[in-house]
Amino acid sequence: MSGRLSGKVTLISGAASGIGRETARLFAREGGKVFLGDIDSERGGAAAAEISPSAHFVPLNVTQEESWSAALEKVLNLAGRIDILVNSAGIWTGGDFIDCSLADWQQTMDVNATGTFLGCRFAVKAMKAIGNSGSIVNISSIYGNIAADDAVAYAASKGAVRLLTKGVALYCAANTLPIRCNSVHPTYVDSEMLERFAEAAGGRELEVARLSSVVPMRKLPVPSDIAEAILFLASDAARLITGAELPVDGGMLAGIVAPVSNPARLVS
Ligand SMILES: NC(=O)c1ccc[n+]([C@@H]2O[C@H](COP(=O)([O-])OP(=O)(O)OC[C@H]3O[C@@H](n4cnc5c(N)ncnc54)[C@H](O)[C@@H]3O)[C@@H](O)[C@H]2O)c1
Repeated sequence: MSGRLSGKVTLISGAASGIGRETARLFAREGGKVFLGDIDSERGGAAAAEISPSAHFVPLNVTQEESWSAALEKVLNLAGRIDILVNSAGIWTGGDFIDCSLADWQQTMDVNATGTFLGCRFAVKAMKAIGNSGSIVNISSIYGNIAADDAVAYAASKGAVRLLTKGVALYCAANTLPIRCNSVHPTYVDSEMLERFAEAAGGRELEVARLSSVVPMRKLPVPSDIAEAILFLASDAARLITGAELPVDGGMLAGIVAPVSNPARLVS
C-alpha cells in the first residue's frame, strides 16, 4: 500500500486508547508499519488486532528504562528499523492544588515528562545507531503553554515536554543527526480522557458544551484531528520543521475572544 508513511516504522506510546490509537490507525492507513506501546496490554492488543494484521502491540511502561529497552528491541527485531516515535502516553491530574499529594505530582511528572524524556533518548540512540533519518512527535497540551489553576501538576509536566522537545531538536541538529523533534498541543479533546469528567458535569454532551464554550472556534477536536497534525510532523512533508510546537486548539493559544458585551466591541 502506498501512502505518506510508506516504508516507515513507527512506535507509538499510549496507543491503547484515544489519540495514540487514532494515530496508529491513521499511520497504518498511510502505509506505515505501526507498533502500539501501552501499559494496558488487553486494550493495546485489541487495538493492534483491529487496526491491521501488520500492526503489533508491544508492552510498554514509559516510566521504566528496561521497558523502553525491551519495546525498542522488539521493534528492531521485527522491523529492523525505527523511523518515527510518537510519545502519546499521558495521564491527567487535576483538582485543588493544595490537595495535590507528592505522590500525585511524582506520578504525573513520571508518566508525562520522564516517560517522554526516556522515549526521546532511546529513540535518538536507536535512530543514530541505524543511521537513518527520524522524526519524534511529543504530545504536550495547551497546558504546556498556559497554566491552569485546577491542573497545576499536569501543566508543569506538559511545559516540561514542550522544552524537552526543543532541546532534543537542537541536540540532533547540533550533532548533524537527521532526526527531527516536534510537539503537538491539543486543547480539550473529545476522547476517552473526557469520560472521566462527563459524569460530574451531568453527561458528556453538557461537558462538551462547557469545554467548547472556552474555545474560540467553539468546537472540540476529536482524536483524528490530533492524529492528522501528528502525521504531518512525522512525515517527510515536515522535513525542515524541528523544535516546533503545533497547537490543535481551535484558536485557544492565539489569545482570547472578547465577550460580546465587551464595551470595546460597541465603540465604532
Ligand atoms: N484528551 C485530551 O483532552 C488531551 C488534551 C491535551 C493533551 N492530551 C495529551 O494527549 C495524550 C493522549 O491522551 P488521550 O486523550 O489519548 O488519553 P487516553 O487516556 O485516552 O490515553 C492515554 C494512554 O496512555 C496509556 N498510559 C498511561 N500511563 C502509561 C504508562 N506509564 N506507560 C505506557 N502507557 C501509559 C494509557 O493506558 C492510555 O492507553 C496524553 O499525553 C495527554 O496528556 C490529551
